[in-house]
Amino acid sequence: MFRKIIAEPGTLISVIGGKGGGGKTAVSVLLGYGLAQQKERVVVVNYDLGNSSLNKYTNMEPDPRHSTGALRRGAGLADAALSKAGADFILGSADIEDTQAAYNSPHSYLNPLMQAILHRPPEYRYTIVDLQAGSTVFTVRFALLADVLLSVFPASDEENVNIAAGQLKLLLGAYVSAGIAAYFPRVFVLANHNKPGGLSGRQVKAKLESLIQTNGWEEKIGHSFLTGVFELPYLPARSSGLFGRVQARLAELDLLERSLRQGEIPGPLRVPVDKVLAALRTLPPSGLDAPGRYARMLAPYEQSVRNRNRNENRNITER
Ligand SMILES: Nc1ncnc2c1ncn2[C@@H]1O[C@H](COP(=O)(O)OP(=O)(O)O)[C@@H](O)[C@H]1O
Ligand SMILES: [Mg+2]
Repeated sequence: MFRKIIAEPGTLISVIGGKGGGGKTAVSVLLGYGLAQQKERVVVVNYDLGNSSLNKYTNMEPDPRHSTGALRRGAGLADAALSKAGADFILGSADIEDTQAAYNSPHSYLNPLMQAILHRPPEYRYTIVDLQAGSTVFTVRFALLADVLLSVFPASDEENVNIAAGQLKLLLGAYVSAGIAAYFPRVFVLANHNKPGGLSGRQVKAKLESLIQTNGWEEKIGHSFLTGVFELPYLPARSSGLFGRVQARLAELDLLERSLRQGEIPGPLRVPVDKVLAALRTLPPSGLDAPGRYARMLAPYEQSVRNRNRNENRNITER
């Protein structure tokens, strides 16, 4: 079973958060470097549209062939990536044209980006998608395709825990209404001390556990809701800049890396992409959605899923 899982596209980790500035990009970069240090193939993808803070953290410059812009023009993840310290990164778009495209026409912008994720090369053991803040038409789709949701929020007060829980509730609602609640992704939360002080990891955990219990989320999905609660300490600025700060604290996410690497994503809970795609088709048009467009865009992928299933069945019969 385990072999079969790793032969499939690697684990997709969507980094989500209710508010901007909570530390999603910082955590994505830390995790990317951390996994690379453990000799795992990993790609970190900036899907925060025009916001290219990933470029600052990695201290790299995108170019038209290496950026989300390249994905928009049809490149695959491996070709559009730039490498640093053993990890691959898809930087934010290099040109204003891309940023405008993202805002003026979110769907035509979104389609090739979604294809890049759906067709991610199997050699990447982890694909980390650093999303926009909030639950936009854009972020919900990548969150729904994820095997792991990593919710990053400021640990400053309870309000932020409530906002993070609200976002998880919205995503869970989509799974429930699509009838696939049992496949709800593994949830990791990361309480980030982006300022000194605030709630401890233990307080955050207690608060979340009580919300999970009162809302009956575990009954809805039939398995435990929180896979891990982690804490990132306040990292004071140093003269070495953002990159230096991130590099200096690789060990902080050691536990998170280890939980991910130990493959704590049992087979039956691996998100069934074909079912999620079917669910995405049923999402109500949001004003931005063009009916039919997703069906056309998803057709080739659904064909490859069907072929894979057919091959698997044939292998079983032949054995
Ligand atoms: N643990 C931390 N300690 C100190 N500063 C942090 C920490 N996490 C994030 N920051 C700072 O907060 C700002 C926002 O972080 P960022 O990762 O860009 O947030 P997001 O991607 O969620 O918008 C950045 O200036 C970053 O350096
Ligand atoms: Mg960011």
